[in-house]
Amino acid sequence: MFKILEKQVLTPEIKLMVIDAPRVARKAKAGQFVILRINDQGERIPLTIADFDPKKGTVTIIFQEVGKTTMMLGEMEAGDTILDFVGPLGKEMEEKNFGHVVCVGGGVGIAPTFPKARALKEAGNKVTSIIGARTASMLFWEDKMREVSDKLYVTTDDGSYGEKGFVTTVLERVLEQEKVDLVIAVGPVMMMKMTSLLTKKHGVPTLVSLNPIMVDGTGMCGCCRVSVNGQCKFTCVDGPIFDGHAVDFDELLSRQRIYLEEEKRALEKYLA
Ligand code: NAD
Ligand code: FES
Repeated sequence: MFKILEKQVLTPEIKLMVIDAPRVARKAKAGQFVILRINDQGERIPLTIADFDPKKGTVTIIFQEVGKTTMMLGEMEAGDTILDFVGPLGKEMEEKNFGHVVCVGGGVGIAPTFPKARALKEAGNKVTSIIGARTASMLFWEDKMREVSDKLYVTTDDGSYGEKGFVTTVLERVLEQEKVDLVIAVGPVMMMKMTSLLTKKHGVPTLVSLNPIMVDGTGMCGCCRVSVNGQCKFTCVDGPIFDGHAVDFDELLSRQRIYLEEEKRALEKYLA
């Protein structure tokens, strides 16, 4: 059993939890994820690690309440326990000095962008970060992202805070004005697709962190498969980080919608 040590409500729908998971924390690297199951009846959900502290033995997760399981998790409090917390899973990000790296975090994707930006800063890179949310109240971790970035840009779709527009609005300007060696994008699939199209135009290598539906997280069930360079890859063991210019985002978008009806029914039943 894994104890929730701390809970923070970052926005009405986005919650942070610090989990007591020493063995996961000891091995975790930027870019990896965990799969958790609240109880023995529960579904498994993958969450990219938002932060970890090997000394304290803690792992921080940040999630948006979008369905039954994330809503159940959001109702849990510090002191409660989670049955399974498996990880760290997936391959870690390469931590080396690329030169100038732009880290782009969209919405909930800001959380998994943080450890990547921190690791890249520690590796000696110049780190420019761009974070964006739909509106000011949905934005979080601006302070933490600022700490690990040489320069930070903030956007909101509605202009209620920072610059009005998508993260790609600022990225386009940075790509036109500065030499960029690598872009890392984490967020909704459409945002990672648009980022990759933009960077392809500018010839800048781009990594994206994919989040398809997962079950076992060990490369056995095949449900996390994505097409990369026309080849079938399993996100849980081959990823979750892939070359954004090689990912078939349209296939990923349609695969993410496969269980929408079932997810809707499960949520309605839970709320009834
Ligand atoms: P959102 O729809 O609010 O978008 C967040 C930001 O992404 C926007 O403010 C904008 O700046 C950018 N964006 C969105 N659509 C764009 C487009 N078409 N072009 C350019 N930029 C665009 O996102 P949200 O509701 O916070 O995110 C939820 C989604 O993020 C879920 O699908 C979730 O699965 C995914 N997610 C992915 C990861 C990951 O590891 N890739 C991690 C957490 C969440
Ligand atoms: Fe089953 Fe990746 S989640 S193969």
